[in-house]
Amino acid sequence: MSSWNHVSRIWLIVTETPTLNAPQKQAIFRPEVYEVNTVQQAMSVTVTAEAGTSTEERWEKETAFLLEDIGRHLELDQETCVLDYGCGVGRLSKALIDEYGCRVVGVDASKSMRLLAPEYVLSERFTVWSPDVLAKMVAKGFRVQRALCLWVLQHVLDPAEVVQLIGSALSDGGLLYALNQLTRCVPTNLGYVNDGKDVEAELDKRFDILNRSSLPAEVTTPQIAQASRLAVMRKPEAPAE
Ligand SMILES: C[S@@+](CC[C@H](N)C(=O)[O-])C[C@H]1O[C@@H](n2cnc3c(N)ncnc32)[C@H](O)[C@@H]1O
Repeated sequence: MSSWNHVSRIWLIVTETPTLNAPQKQAIFRPEVYEVNTVQQAMSVTVTAEAGTSTEERWEKETAFLLEDIGRHLELDQETCVLDYGCGVGRLSKALIDEYGCRVVGVDASKSMRLLAPEYVLSERFTVWSPDVLAKMVAKGFRVQRALCLWVLQHVLDPAEVVQLIGSALSDGGLLYALNQLTRCVPTNLGYVNDGKDVEAELDKRFDILNRSSLPAEVTTPQIAQASRLAVMRKPEAPAE
């Protein structure tokens, strides 16, 4: 499973319109962009200021929408344990625990996010693991009925691997709520690049899609709404042997 040291040596092909005989540009994966020193910095790199909006405004309005929408689709209560894959500093983990009283296992590849998240979430109902620990726990039988993955899959080096890991942590029939940008946006030494990988196709391979929409423009900017894709999915039941 990915850890920063391992993946940072892998090269990406940047998808630019190739001209005959012109060498393709290559970019080096730079996930260290998610290593931060403070909660404030974590907020700024995970929910970025964009044209027409700020980190603070997105944090407030988008989080309020997601809290309600996730609660409605995933039907959370005190008995539920939710996997928040790519939890960052725990924006939704905290909101979900405070509102629904559920338990949350946050997973993030950034060590500093994992160190800062408990400080931000401030709840005994929150635990945070690295992707490697999640994979080991899954191998030992750890499963959840509910998972979310918000603004993560467009940034990971290998979406197929991450979708597989999330799927392996869900019980059969379990629900996944995902929010992504429609185009890939991978952090590299050349800035954020689109490597052309198809996140939706990876999700379609492993999940039944129950609902597909985008963020409503009222809770963000028209540009972010248009570039977003929300999906609620179910992990299919394993066929009876
Ligand atoms: C844009 S932020 C979103 C954070 C959070 N989901 C939210 O909406 O506030 C992306 C997060 O995914 C994490 N991340 C990136 N690649 C990952 C991977 N392969 N496995 C787990 N987390 C990853 C980053 O460290 C970062 O915290």
